[in-house]
Amino acid sequence: MDRAALARIVGADHVVVDPERRAAATVDWTGRVRGATPALVRPGSTAEVSAVLAHCHAEGLAVVPQGGNTGLVAGAVPQHGELVLDLRRLDHLGPVDPLARQVTVGAGVTLAALHAHAAAHGLRYAVDFGARDEATVGGSVATNAGGVHVLRWGTTRRQLAGIEAVLADGRVVSHLAGLDKDNTGYDLAGLLCGSEGTLAVVTAARVRLVPDEPEVAVGLVGVSSVADAVVVVAHLRELVPGLSAAELVLADGLDLVCRTFDRRPPLSAAWPAVVLVEARGREPQAEVLADALDAMAVGETAVAVEPARRAELWSYREDHTLAINTLGPPHKLDVTLPLPALAEFAAAVPDVVREVAPDAEVWLFGHLGDGNLHVNVTGVASDDEVVDDVVLRLVAARGGSISAEHGIGSLKRRWLHLSRSDVEIDAFRAIKQALDPRSVLNPNVLLPTAPGRPAPA
Ligand code: MLT
Ligand code: ZN
Repeated sequence: MDRAALARIVGADHVVVDPERRAAATVDWTGRVRGATPALVRPGSTAEVSAVLAHCHAEGLAVVPQGGNTGLVAGAVPQHGELVLDLRRLDHLGPVDPLARQVTVGAGVTLAALHAHAAAHGLRYAVDFGARDEATVGGSVATNAGGVHVLRWGTTRRQLAGIEAVLADGRVVSHLAGLDKDNTGYDLAGLLCGSEGTLAVVTAARVRLVPDEPEVAVGLVGVSSVADAVVVVAHLRELVPGLSAAELVLADGLDLVCRTFDRRPPLSAAWPAVVLVEARGREPQAEVLADALDAMAVGETAVAVEPARRAELWSYREDHTLAINTLGPPHKLDVTLPLPALAEFAAAVPDVVREVAPDAEVWLFGHLGDGNLHVNVTGVASDDEVVDDVVLRLVAARGGSISAEHGIGSLKRRWLHLSRSDVEIDAFRAIKQALDPRSVLNPNVLLPTAPGRPAPA
């Protein structure tokens, strides 16, 4: 690494070699994966990103783009001594266009900052998840992040109206007009979204916003089984037009959250499964939810409209991640199942895990409305991949996807073939080769082996 050359581009203060700051940027959010980097380079503009990449390309220096580093498949952790390209200084919030309901923002803007910016104009950015305070727009575009509102508004890709990105050799592609009808060839925004930093570095995104509906209600519904939870959500989709979230937690996860954060259980009985539902609209939503739940004669319910109480109900679901992390670095297996197969999978997975790891504990929660379960396994060594193998194979055997919303990263690249055919993976390689022939961008992520580079040990 030519530190002086990089310092000439971004300024000496923004080539960070301090061991503590490097250490923080080279471990993933769960603590499962640790890497190393010679430096963090922190560009302050698209032009600086361009110059840094042109330099790295010329030198054959591999780069790992990084935003909030809240990803859960080690896609932003330099595990082979790559340079970290920290994009958080690209935090420009453009003016909201109320006519088109769009805004252009820098890659380093956090989701929370984008939410606040949109709210000031009576609008909302529909992508939301627990890591909103650190996760960046660039990272969420690069990973096509999902979150809690996918069932109504779709994943990040659906929100994208345009993109600015820097190619591996430093050239800039900018397509930010946000025209809804723009039928002029390949959809680069759609391609780069979900490419996990392997094809280009996202520097800005033009995103769609939705009306910030004033009436919001959140409910918890205790049910007797995961199978019942699936049926409840299917009915709610019909009966509640404004349904904006349908999440699942199980009794043991809820109990762990309550013990970890010293909280009272939200319902009076310990239901085997609890569905969290949220509805948003122009009419009062509590009644709509209550009527729908009455019509289904489900178990116990708790419904809240007051913001602090709504946040409290959400915290029982969102705090699963932090509570599980207190048990040691988990293996996080984010998967989708076809809805008819979900309950049977949820019942089978603990036994399948215990067969290969008798001391392991399995924690299940997720975005039930999307068929997306987060299978978390604790009590297994970080580098032991046997559990990952049996769970991902079970998912594939049930017709599911090995990654619902977290991406492939470096942790799941071995198993990409379970969800993608050889022909698809060949097409992926051809695209990678065309856009990054020297394999400078995130070379150890997504594809099973990096073209032009030896497979990592
Ligand atoms: C969530 O749904 O809470 C996130 O995907 C994070 C996680 O899976 O732990
Ligand atoms: Zn999730």
